[in-house]
Amino acid sequence: MRPLIVANWKMHKNRAQAIEWVCQLTHLHKQQPTAARMVLCPPFALLEILRPFCDETIALGGQDCHPEEEGAYTGDTSAMLLADLDCRFVVLGHSERRAAHHENNEQVARKAQQAQKQGLCPIICIGETRKQRDSGHALDALKQQAQESTHGISGNYVMAYEPIWAIGSGTTPQPQDIDDVAQAVNAHLNHQPATFLYGGSVTDKNARDFVASGIYRGLLVGGQSLDAQRFYAIAQACCNP
Ligand code: PGA
Repeated sequence: MRPLIVANWKMHKNRAQAIEWVCQLTHLHKQQPTAARMVLCPPFALLEILRPFCDETIALGGQDCHPEEEGAYTGDTSAMLLADLDCRFVVLGHSERRAAHHENNEQVARKAQQAQKQGLCPIICIGETRKQRDSGHALDALKQQAQESTHGISGNYVMAYEPIWAIGSGTTPQPQDIDDVAQAVNAHLNHQPATFLYGGSVTDKNARDFVASGIYRGLLVGGQSLDAQRFYAIAQACCNP
């Protein structure tokens, strides 16, 4: 199975920078094709301009969607529109949205249902806080988060394990620890994901360690995805574990 390497740009880049990035990536791919399946999740307003550049080399994804199909929801984005913009994926329940927009598991599950209805593959994020980890409650918290955030979904989805304390911090868990999490969470789910991703301070130096055992089939990359060369190096590293 091809590794799935997802770039989460968060709220970075303008149109010129986005085009420069995608041209660089396409060039790198032409020089030395990667076997990885790459996905780019840019800010919503960049999707339209990136569409013509995205194909089998790199697919597009959204960073969030609304649980309803359409309606009076100022500022929100529908899964229907993401699909219309050729997105294949949508990141849901990222810890930054859970924290800053007070998203809970039930809302994440409803968004995932809507995404699937529109033909998108949800990438559902779970992750424990430093406090939960230090007090020995991480696994229970993650199992509950995973189960509730996937409630009622039926088709394919991806689960991304992103310890909150590892995001943007330069600190990462041990590969054995993340494998234990994926196995425990998977055993607890009614409807198991096709793919588990790891995210949190991934670089081209540590990328291979997280996928080496084969339990994780890819990575969700934040900061290091802003540079096309570094992102491509991460994708390549995962193809030769
Ligand atoms: P990071 O972010 O790679 O910068 O740690 C990952 C994420 O938030 O998805």
